[in-house]
Amino acid sequence: MTRILVLNGPNLGRLGSREPDVYGNANLDDLRAMLDTAAGDHATIDLRQTNDEAELIGWLYEATDAAVPVILNPAAFTHYSYALRDAAALVTKAGIPLVEVHISNPHARETFRHTSVISGIATGVIAGFGFDSYRLALDAVLRLTAARPE
Ligand code: DQA
Repeated sequence: MTRILVLNGPNLGRLGSREPDVYGNANLDDLRAMLDTAAGDHATIDLRQTNDEAELIGWLYEATDAAVPVILNPAAFTHYSYALRDAAALVTKAGIPLVEVHISNPHARETFRHTSVISGIATGVIAGFGFDSYRLALDAVLRLTAARPE
């Protein structure tokens, strides 16, 4: 069965209590349960979160080496981490899908959030739909990997 890495960057471990007006009341366990249900028999969800840029980069190497598709919420790293961008580029340059997701719509927020250094090397970007951003990204990845032909 296809494994999909769902990687979450800094402060997303605080979902549920962090700025609920922006990010909602659900936490990462809720997100994992939602994606497990959505994936059904088509894929296994390997959801992780870290506040550590180096760890996130290591997970992108893992995805590259094992050819595992990635759904990535880079959180604040989105806006400035060239190191993360370069690691994410390894994934897509290897022909492996990497979908950038955001819970909020960064373009409707502060100016510094309008820049993503990740988007240019991502397969695609989904933002602004709450946790549904991840579900839509899962659909996209399943279609790209033809695990769920429709
Ligand atoms: C975020 C948007 C980022 O600007 C922010 O730093 C986050 C979360 C989102 O999912 O909406 O931590 O990536």
